Amino acid sequence: MSETLLKEVQEKFTKTFNTVPLLVFSPGRINIIGEHTDYNGGFVFPAAVNKGIAAALQKSDTGCSTAIALDKDSTVVFELDKLKPSKEGSWENYVFGVVAEIQNRNKIIGDFNIIFKGNIPGGAGMSSSAALENSVVFGLNELFDLGLTKHEMILISQKAEHNYVGVNCGIMDQYASMFGIQDHALHLDCRSVEAIPYKIDFKAHQLMLINTNVKHNLSDSAYNDRRSACERISELLGIEALRDATEKDLEKVIDKVTPTNYQKALFVIQENARTIKAAKAIKDNDLELLGSLIYQSHTGLSDQYKVSCVELDFLVAQAKKNKHVLGARMMGGGFGGCTINLISKTEALSFGESVSKAYKNKFNNECSVYFIALSEGTHLVK
Ligand code: GLA
Repeated sequence: MSETLLKEVQEKFTKTFNTVPLLVFSPGRINIIGEHTDYNGGFVFPAAVNKGIAAALQKSDTGCSTAIALDKDSTVVFELDKLKPSKEGSWENYVFGVVAEIQNRNKIIGDFNIIFKGNIPGGAGMSSSAALENSVVFGLNELFDLGLTKHEMILISQKAEHNYVGVNCGIMDQYASMFGIQDHALHLDCRSVEAIPYKIDFKAHQLMLINTNVKHNLSDSAYNDRRSACERISELLGIEALRDATEKDLEKVIDKVTPTNYQKALFVIQENARTIKAAKAIKDNDLELLGSLIYQSHTGLSDQYKVSCVELDFLVAQAKKNKHVLGARMMGGGFGGCTINLISKTEALSFGESVSKAYKNKFNNECSVYFIALSEGTHLVK
């Protein structure tokens, strides 16, 4: 699958620019549990997957740089010393942002050309944006011998998202995409930015994604609003981040925050605790417990953190009716995208079919079922 993508960007590159490019594959990610905890200094449990962005790039000697988004059949030509964010929502902000953040670190790059294409639908909640940012920074690091470490690269990708895309994201997506390990999920401490890899083999069960194929508006501003609400409450509590708070601590400021923000902070504290419990459940091979933590996560995301939507809630409700699904929840920032389901291997196909029918009946829209493999992080392709 990724081979075809890589071949396509490579051929297109050679045809367009008449040189042999460097090839980079940068994966998207899933997240087993730990949502909206990353920017609160907490724990998450993501893994890189075998879907993502293939990029071909090489130096340019024309005095300018060119980026081509093959999916969108869209080209931008730009000058490195005149970068500024493009209009909101434009794909080139991911590229410009990374270049600008590299320059902010006083690293010198020259003109370059890049062509990329992905096989994760945008808005699926699988971090096609982090995959793209990482492919650009990783490729430029190679091309211009910048000597950046992977940790530095993901901070550059994250800053690009903050300053050029306008989403004040945490570090989970960039980390998972860059540091992914085949067959493993990463129990990542977002404060120390260090992870413990967990081999994932659920034996008779597996993970399955179902994409609602919707992405509701305002998700970016809703995301930033939640992040600032969490930060204000941390300030009230006199702590660095909500990761440091217990439910008891939170009670002390109950009179100082709105009931809705109180529930949001409570969600973060509980979700962080669930993520720690989930790591133990995986170690103990206790899939019933893992599944129930995943369901609880969804309830919290929907009722307390309020980042779900009717389509996601519907898919999780369908899962709950099926005894072969041990857990299901929305994944990623929310307001659309995928659910992640922990389901018995033998039942996955038939559940996929029945849920697709029910979804079509309810919303007159298709959902998509994805089976994914946990894969290696951003890498050069020889
Ligand atoms: C988006 C952000 C991440 C993280 C998730 C929610 O994917 O990019 O940093 O906050 O939402 O867990």
